[in-house]
Amino acid sequence: MRRIVVVGTQWGDEGKGKITDYLAQRADVVVRYQGGNNAGHTVVINNQKYSLHLLPSGILNPNIINVMANGMVIDPKAFCQELSKIKTPFKLFVSNRAHIVLPYHPKLDLAYELSKGDAKIGTTHKGIGPAYTDKVARIGLRVGTFVNENRFYHHLKELVERKNYELSLYKQPLLDFESIFAEYREYAKVMEPFVCDTSILLNELIEQDKKILFEGAQGVLLCLDHGTYPYVTSSSPTAASVPLNTGIAPWLVEGAIGVTKAYTTRVGSGPMPSEIEGELAHYIRETGREYGTTTGRPRRIGWLDTVILRHTKCVSGLSYLAVTLLDVLTGIDELKIVTSYNLDGQEIDYLPSDIEDYERVMPNYMVLPGWKTDISQVKSYDELPKEAKNYLDVISNLVGVKIGMFSVGPDRNQTIMIEPFF
Ligand code: IMP
Repeated sequence: MRRIVVVGTQWGDEGKGKITDYLAQRADVVVRYQGGNNAGHTVVINNQKYSLHLLPSGILNPNIINVMANGMVIDPKAFCQELSKIKTPFKLFVSNRAHIVLPYHPKLDLAYELSKGDAKIGTTHKGIGPAYTDKVARIGLRVGTFVNENRFYHHLKELVERKNYELSLYKQPLLDFESIFAEYREYAKVMEPFVCDTSILLNELIEQDKKILFEGAQGVLLCLDHGTYPYVTSSSPTAASVPLNTGIAPWLVEGAIGVTKAYTTRVGSGPMPSEIEGELAHYIRETGREYGTTTGRPRRIGWLDTVILRHTKCVSGLSYLAVTLLDVLTGIDELKIVTSYNLDGQEIDYLPSDIEDYERVMPNYMVLPGWKTDISQVKSYDELPKEAKNYLDVISNLVGVKIGMFSVGPDRNQTIMIEPFF
């Protein structure tokens, strides 16, 4: 395949960054297509740690063309901060149709959350929801307008007035137009040289038969349409959203690699049927370093849930699975995998659309033997202990998708490709 998308199959944080970083070595182009700096992952290169939130994962490789496509919402301050940390040469293009996150967006994000009380979503407070809300309400500010001084001035003036009214309803401090304009005009100057029509660019690159990796942020269960609504983000992390959010034809995406942890995690609120607590959850959280890259929040822990993976396969499409953090399960006597749910005494094999029903489902489990030997240095599927091989095979059979890759540690050389699909 020459054009693939890497999607998270769960609630985000599946280790997409590591898989993308690995596959990016074989790519000519890496494209971020949705979300903003609510995402985050760490890449370690030559012992130097880089935290990427907005920039595509190919940014540290001078040969890769990086694209921030129209489906993204970009916070210019975060963009400039992240860019200033990249000390090696890079190639970057930013869509003139992507939307801009402005200072009132995080403030409104927080205000909406506070107003919801116990029903809060648990957002990252980065202003993502309010920025997408403005896009849909047709009052958003796009990159192309942002980098034009005159147009930015007039749009921002009107927007700050409007948003100050909204902030006053939530009893929040008001914003000063002049100071935002002065500060953000500087960010616009930094961004301007990278701005273009990335749809045209991508179509040209496809004509040239370049290998393209579309890099999803978050995970399919956080999809606005197919996720656990309302506990979702405000964009679609599915493979299906790539064409719309990048401006290419749907049939040009040749496959999707679904990244799944060997177990499940979630940050933020909302149901999680296979959630575990206590000592075992603590062990997995510490062993797997399960703390959010963007917010530092401890992640909730659960067993692997194949109803979720089949749902992801259904709504997004999965060509292969990439199973991450397999090493974290080493030493656990018995491993559980969710095979189906029970709802009101009935066995079901789907995610109920209504969150109140999803909160009530009870998982049915299959129990598998664990393994004791250290797998962090294995270099192939064949070197795995038989119980670990069995664990992967069972997942593959239950989901109906081949395992294309797995990883046994944070380093690039701890990612193993079983099938050379890209
Ligand atoms: P928002 O995207 O900040 O609006 O947050 C909405 C929901 O998505 C919350 O539950 C967040 O914790 C979750 N979320 C957003 N981005 C990520 C991510 O990159 N990883 C995991 N969860 C995320």
